[in-house]
Amino acid sequence: MEQYKEQYEHYIKRLEDRLERECKGRFAPDSLVGKAAHYSLMAGGKRVRGTLVLAFCDMLGGNSEVAEAFGAAIEMLHCYSLIHDDLPCMDDADTRRGKASCHKKFGEATALLAGDALLTLAFEVIAASAGTGQQRAEACLCLAQAAGGRGMVYGQELDLAFEHKQPTESDLIRIHTHKTGDLIHAAGRLGVIASTSVPRDEVECDAYTRSIGLVFQIVDDLLDCTATAQQLGKPVGSDAAAGKVTFATLKGIDAAYGRAQQLTENACARLEKCYGKKSVFLTTLARSLLERKN
Ligand code: IPE
Ligand code: IPE
Ligand code: MG
Ligand code: MG
Ligand code: MG
Repeated sequence: MEQYKEQYEHYIKRLEDRLERECKGRFAPDSLVGKAAHYSLMAGGKRVRGTLVLAFCDMLGGNSEVAEAFGAAIEMLHCYSLIHDDLPCMDDADTRRGKASCHKKFGEATALLAGDALLTLAFEVIAASAGTGQQRAEACLCLAQAAGGRGMVYGQELDLAFEHKQPTESDLIRIHTHKTGDLIHAAGRLGVIASTSVPRDEVECDAYTRSIGLVFQIVDDLLDCTATAQQLGKPVGSDAAAGKVTFATLKGIDAAYGRAQQLTENACARLEKCYGKKSVFLTTLARSLLERKN
């Protein structure tokens, strides 16, 4: 466990250094939008998606330099999704990552544009990375598909459409799969794309990332009812206040947690079977995401 924690901290450090580096020169010096984007991007966060890119790449023996760029890119895109998710027209959240949310600090128009800038910058970072032409094209395609109108954006659309409605379990799985699962899945694939040494179709990645993606949002929903705002660094009770039915309210807290546990164990079993000891970091990560408190 000590070794896992050290490794995770090391991944976070590499990602944060890389994010700082990738922001340099990418915004006009007098741009308030640039300041707002930097404020939200560097405000902390667990860096789970970037870590997944690096860890998949390491497990498969790939190119860390390329994985770092892809990891930074997905964290930028994720941060854009958070800035927009917090806007008054969406979840209307005043805090994020333990600080004022972007629009609370900089105003709505600036926050909207900061999100736009981070979304665009994510693809610039991939395109300008040290990957081969094929790697860069595949990574752009992968991230665009995961984030766009059939991916995260669609999930966010469904999430809002189901406010004050009664989704079935399969509706909820569909919402969660798109709004959160698709980006987590893309993180794993980006790690695979950064590791050219392995034939892609032989890589066992999807079952793991699909399961932990769903678990990630189930746990997020559970924490919204069970954690404190201080622990989370964002408002709590916001799903109920917005009339959102979640796994926690549809199935009850214990059953939702049980489902998340089962999905996590399935994910870990598949990865352990294929990669043995090399999968230790990723299986420990999956189990810690189930137990996370923020
Ligand atoms: C929050 O994501 C939004 C969801 C998809 C549930 P994270 O919990 O990964 O947020 P940060 O990046 O750690 O702040
Ligand atoms: C957000 O889900 C998913 C995104 C695409 C940002 P939530 O709305 O539950 O995320 P939090 O709880 O605000 O972080
Ligand atoms: Mg939301
Ligand atoms: Mg939200
Ligand atoms: Mg939430």
